[in-house]
Amino acid sequence: MSNIQRQPFTMLLTWLSWSWKSTVSDFLCKKIIEEYGVYVDQLDWDKIRSTLNSDLKFSKNDRHKNITRVSKICDKLNKNGRSVIASFICPYASMRKIMKNNIKNLIEVFLNCPLEVCEKRDVKWLYKKARNWEIKNFTWISDVFEIPENPDIILNTHKETITESVNKLINYLSKKYKI
Ligand code: ADX
Repeated sequence: MSNIQRQPFTMLLTWLSWSWKSTVSDFLCKKIIEEYGVYVDQLDWDKIRSTLNSDLKFSKNDRHKNITRVSKICDKLNKNGRSVIASFICPYASMRKIMKNNIKNLIEVFLNCPLEVCEKRDVKWLYKKARNWEIKNFTWISDVFEIPENPDIILNTHKETITESVNKLINYLSKKYKI
């Protein structure tokens, strides 16, 4: 099936810092491109926040602006026939609602990995800095994350291998979007 006949989608990987959103996204994109011959765009928080959204910080308002702009890019790419894998914490239900409102085919993936595990993986000491108040409004330490009520897919990156997590996503995409 050609790229044009497929329904483009945006897959949002959401949850805490170090839940392996970007790692899953890297492996997923590579697999979709190499094994299925479909080009997907990868939008990760670090690339976006260091370029287009470098004017934004982590207040509630700035996080909403971050995701509003991201959702508009995803929508534009989808309308041009390109699918997107987007990795953002996206902590508030209202942010995910913006994504849903702006994107026709949004797939919400919740990486259900406990804080302790995310904290252990954190080689940049962000959680430690957040606990020492060196970083303000840090998600799940000094700011909230509103757990998605009805995600399309749940990954358990603390129990599954990356390959298992990626295969879950591929299975979903094969069934619903015929990749
Ligand atoms: S979002 O809330 O607007 O979706 P986004 O995914 O773009 O956040 O950026 C999150 C990343 O920014 C984290 O993985 C972490 O590395 C870094 N970061 C810096 N300050 C904060 C903070 N206060 N809260 C959460 N993440 C932060």
